[in-house]
Amino acid sequence: MDIDPESLPVRERYNLLIASILPRPIAWVSTISPEGVTNLAPFSFFTGITASPMSVCFAPVNDRNGRRKDTLLNIEAVRQFVVNMATAANAAKMNQTSAPYPYGVSEFEKAGLTPVPSSAVKPPRVAESPLSLECELLQIVRLSEGALGGNLVIGKVVRFHCADALWNGGHLRHQDLKPVGRMEGSWYSRVSDDFELPRPEA
Ligand SMILES: Cc1cc2nc3c(=O)[nH]c(=O)nc-3n(C[C@H](O)[C@H](O)[C@H](O)COP(=O)(O)O)c2cc1C
Repeated sequence: MDIDPESLPVRERYNLLIASILPRPIAWVSTISPEGVTNLAPFSFFTGITASPMSVCFAPVNDRNGRRKDTLLNIEAVRQFVVNMATAANAAKMNQTSAPYPYGVSEFEKAGLTPVPSSAVKPPRVAESPLSLECELLQIVRLSEGALGGNLVIGKVVRFHCADALWNGGHLRHQDLKPVGRMEGSWYSRVSDDFELPRPEA
């Protein structure tokens, strides 16, 4: 099979993309509006960038009408966000927060989640998530406009928070984090078969 993505309708391109890059970790992003209304939504086009500065990025695409998502509107206005980790224990509630509630409706309330004040930024973190990264906006890269237009949000991590049970003498125990990964469609994956592969010497 050999496909020129430009020959496909955009929806099929999207389906190919999300079926090709997987499993994807899920940034469960909390933000706040200038009026103080909290917002929460999952984003699996997400990764870390570097430790200098400690930084992450995720991509809230425009909706089918070309409208920017509430998360992006809040970050443009307040320039801060929190990435909370989606785990097996909170996956159902994470999914519930992806519903297209109108701007000004808080997904914390809709999904029965608990906002906890952050240490260094205005948006709260999610109590039900064992790991949260408080971020200051560094840059928004606007890749394209209109329907499904791409926006890459890059943030500097200014506070790292994790549950004490995950912290083992300065080391984060990934085995206890139990993250879930997004596959394609409505499929997810658990980390239940990880293995170690030490880096080779040159
Ligand atoms: C697991 C999961 C991953 C998602 N990843 C993305 C993503 O990477 N980019 C995106 O624009 N939307 C993504 N979505 C859809 C958004 O969560 C959804 O559009 C949400 O309503 C946006 O909320 P907001 O308007 O409050 O920001 C994802 C949904 C789910 C369930």
